[in-house]
Amino acid sequence: MERSLSMELVRVTEAAALSSARWMGRGKKEEADDAATSAMRDVFDTIPMKGTVVIGEGEMDEAPMLYIGEKLGNGYGARVDVAVDPLEGTNIVAQGTWNALAVIAIADHKQLLHAPDMYMNKIAVGPEAVGKVDINASIAENLQAVAEAKKKDVEDVVAVVLNRERHQGIIEEIREAGARIKLIPDGDVAAAINTAFDHTGVDILFGIGGAPEGVLAAVGLKCLGGEIQGKLLPANDEERLRCEQMGIEDVDKVLYMEDFCGGDDAIFAATGVTDGELLKGVQFKGQKATTQTLVMRAKSGTVRFIDGDHSLKKKPNLVMKP
Ligand code: FBP
Repeated sequence: MERSLSMELVRVTEAAALSSARWMGRGKKEEADDAATSAMRDVFDTIPMKGTVVIGEGEMDEAPMLYIGEKLGNGYGARVDVAVDPLEGTNIVAQGTWNALAVIAIADHKQLLHAPDMYMNKIAVGPEAVGKVDINASIAENLQAVAEAKKKDVEDVVAVVLNRERHQGIIEEIREAGARIKLIPDGDVAAAINTAFDHTGVDILFGIGGAPEGVLAAVGLKCLGGEIQGKLLPANDEERLRCEQMGIEDVDKVLYMEDFCGGDDAIFAATGVTDGELLKGVQFKGQKATTQTLVMRAKSGTVRFIDGDHSLKKKPNLVMKP
């Protein structure tokens, strides 16, 4: 995998963020998602790689672009698996709240988990707590483990959880253990990545979110030296069959970092669409737009924050008008 691919991927997520950010607060999540998807798709054609989408916008018959199995890139360069979420947090953009991202992750061919579009139970932590948590242990045990690893009291640990009815039990257990909670409306990719950055104020992610989002978070955490564990939650026989068809032999097993993303190399890029703890969202002023992107590579361990100043006059197609 060429190291220059990192910068190319920044262009991809910037384009998706710029396009979808125009829809902020308009209450139209589908339109925001479509804008991100088509902007992302356009930029891919210029990138020197032989990519195949393994996590995308859906199956070929349900998604016009960035569908699973679609070939991406200009046909030269490395053969890679591609995971995309052109807009992670469609509701966030529709409402103009926090932490929407345009995200992409790539790894060597056949190294990314082909996660079906279903729920997954997840636990994620940053580097200090790697190897200390266990998705099969109790919430209290995991909070204690993170507290010890980070040399804090449990009372000082902050758990981030999607604010969903299904998480009521987890929330009560966290409260009983004495830790603090950050309930988020959406966006568990950003939440998982945030556990690896002290200044975001979160130490551990618990709860059920999308399985594809789990793979994206895993690549980000691989680059950062963090960890996610997951358990697929097929809702019925059809979903169970779907897992098997996608090559997951033991649907009930705990998925560890190597299962999400094998090999020693991978690249993760995310551009803020709306403001978040880690990344600024897109700002527009006249013919200018600014972006902030996190781009990281697992092999080198390099983590970069890239500020982009974009001239919409010179690149009028960069942002689709609502
Ligand atoms: P979308 O961008 O597809 O709307 O996903 C947002 C999200 O909050 C993810 O971050 C999370 O994994 C998933 O939805 C949770 O699903 P649900 O909203 O069904 O609880």
